[in-house]
Amino acid sequence: MNFLALLERKRDGQQLAPGQIRQVIQAYVAGQIPEYQMAAFLMAVYFRGLRDAETTALTLAMRDSGEVLQFPKDHRPLVDKHSTGGVGDKVSLPLVPLLACLGFRVPMISGRGLGITGGTLDKLESIPGFQTMLPAERIVETVQTVGCVICGQTDRMVPADKKLYALRDVTGTVPSIPLIVASIMSKKLAENLDALVLDVKFGRAAFMQTKAEARKLAKAMVALGNRCGVNTRALLTNMDAPIGRAAGNWLEVKEAVELLDCGTVEPPGRFNDSPIQRLNDLRELVLSCAAHLLVQTRMAKSFKHAYKQAEECLKSGAPRRKWDEMLAAQGADLAEFNRKLARDHTAPVVLELKSGRAGFISKCDARIIGEVIRDLGAGRLTKESKIDHDVGVDRLAKPGDKVQPGSVLCRIHAATAAAAESALPRLYEAFAISARQPAASQLVAGVI
Ligand code: URA
Repeated sequence: MNFLALLERKRDGQQLAPGQIRQVIQAYVAGQIPEYQMAAFLMAVYFRGLRDAETTALTLAMRDSGEVLQFPKDHRPLVDKHSTGGVGDKVSLPLVPLLACLGFRVPMISGRGLGITGGTLDKLESIPGFQTMLPAERIVETVQTVGCVICGQTDRMVPADKKLYALRDVTGTVPSIPLIVASIMSKKLAENLDALVLDVKFGRAAFMQTKAEARKLAKAMVALGNRCGVNTRALLTNMDAPIGRAAGNWLEVKEAVELLDCGTVEPPGRFNDSPIQRLNDLRELVLSCAAHLLVQTRMAKSFKHAYKQAEECLKSGAPRRKWDEMLAAQGADLAEFNRKLARDHTAPVVLELKSGRAGFISKCDARIIGEVIRDLGAGRLTKESKIDHDVGVDRLAKPGDKVQPGSVLCRIHAATAAAAESALPRLYEAFAISARQPAASQLVAGVI
């Protein structure tokens, strides 16, 4: 292969053949293409784009650069969900055991957080003993026996993406739709799925700031998934406010368990409303993802029926038990986990941020909250940063909530009093209070 000639073709806006793209990826992973040439190729792709056939070839070549999970034949469809990332986005935690209880197998390969978006693996690692790194045989075995697993990518899965992503990161070529599509979808295709639901976020704290950009990315991923034989749908969801009432690794696990407990435990009575109402947005997103997958796999005849089925299943308490089963299968110490759950907080310092006036919350800015909790230690500034699982915010007041002077806008969980004090004024900026109740914004703004 003459890589320079291929690179020049792409620079001039010409199309490459699928076989040529496959050769490029194989040679790059084998160390036969120098980084400086690959960097130039990525920049050519960034400016010239890729045609559908080229993106498909790139994605499949990336998937095939490593191990692809192989499952025994089974009546239970293999499904997963992927989110483009947000603040307080703990949807995967309750969704995965719910899907297992609905009769799916869920081999969820997740990632870590970077910047203001949290990562599912970081959240799960706040659970005592929980193992996120499993070899492929263990992933398959756990999925077959428990019905679900949430873990990290093995060293042998999609090595092309690891290498390419690191290079994109330092060459300004991350925000290219075909490269994002190939990166995300190659990892999902390595799970060998029957159906996939994508949660593509837009708004203040999202990778895609506008709905139009999110739609463009969602359409490209849905088309590619379907071309590769995986029934794929995408939800376009609003990320102006955090999902749920908590953001920060352990606090989000705790909230996910609270949702799984809905219907099986009494409301705690700490608030006027029940956990179901307080966690409405989280619940809607979890149930919507499950309902779409039921329709996509023809396990339900309409979205309305499917939503009801998912709702009944959540209420039955079975997903809460499945959660414990998944935790135990992945090495968690359940007794220690339950003791931790019973504690009000695990961070050394907790401070309340209070409203100075009466009215209705009209803004709870997920970007500011994401930045503050990252700086408290919940997130990473670089891939190497160590994170603090216990810090974050909870009891967030959300748009539409009525507040009085002295009402709690949120609680700050910090490692030190100084860190909590410095977060206070920044968090205050995240909230706006108006005299009138704002119109409710739509969480799921479209389906593709
Ligand atoms: N997430 C990924 O896995 N890859 C991208 O390129 C962007 C987001």
